[in-house]
Amino acid sequence: MKESVEEKKYAPVGVFDSGVGGLTVAREIMRQLPEESIIYFGDTARVPYGSKSKETIIRYSKQIIHFLESMGVKAIVVACNTASAFALEELRPEMKMPIIGVVKPGAKAAAKTTQNGRIGVIGTEGTVGSQIYTEMIHRHNPKAQILGKACPLFVPLVEEGWLKDPVTIEVAKRYLASFQESGIDTLILGCTHYPLLRSAIQDIMGSSVNLVNPAYETAQGLRRLLEGHQIANDGKAGPAKYQFYVSDAAEKFKNFANSILPCEIKEAQLIHIEE
Ligand code: DGL
Repeated sequence: MKESVEEKKYAPVGVFDSGVGGLTVAREIMRQLPEESIIYFGDTARVPYGSKSKETIIRYSKQIIHFLESMGVKAIVVACNTASAFALEELRPEMKMPIIGVVKPGAKAAAKTTQNGRIGVIGTEGTVGSQIYTEMIHRHNPKAQILGKACPLFVPLVEEGWLKDPVTIEVAKRYLASFQESGIDTLILGCTHYPLLRSAIQDIMGSSVNLVNPAYETAQGLRRLLEGHQIANDGKAGPAKYQFYVSDAAEKFKNFANSILPCEIKEAQLIHIEE
């Protein structure tokens, strides 16, 4: 039997990422859409996505979407920048439910934020190499000049919890040096982990550069998407529930989640995503 719109609005939103990074997006959804339940999947067995090929990321993303569909989600958030860059447009035609990635909302926000049309983008090798941010920003501002820089060491540093460590600051200074003479006034934190380095990055870039966190804009975009489909949760069926699934290292995931989420998570369940 077909699920009614009324029942559908109480279904959870599926959020996925290559691992823990997408929790920065889940966190924003929790803050901005507190009535929405979430089923989060972190592909901790196959992280990182940032250095893998487009074909591999599409295959992984399809497997995860099938899992989330089987869990009865009403919409999907591709919280990973690399998966948004490589897989989102390939997946969209096959999808029966609304789907949103992080790149488009981040690009739109940056295009709105910049005053001088010079925008920097930092992300994984995959995201920066795909030029997806450039393409999306040009849809809003065709004259914008975009400068990209892959910062692959940021992901392990964040996962190590070295958010303000001198080593992290040194690495950040080296990566961000290429922006110093560029005149950018806006910098997109184009990887799930980078919002956790926000204060270090802001200190290095200086207060004249606006940092754009796509997670924030994605939560706003999700709200509009759910409202547009008339499936936004009105909170009348009780408080939001959060469930977490991973493909490996559940305990480590749980500890990381509890260090950044506004709520305490009791467990992350292990599933075999390839089966
Ligand atoms: N979640 C990834 C992204 O936002 C970063 C980690 C990885 O490389 O898998 O691109």
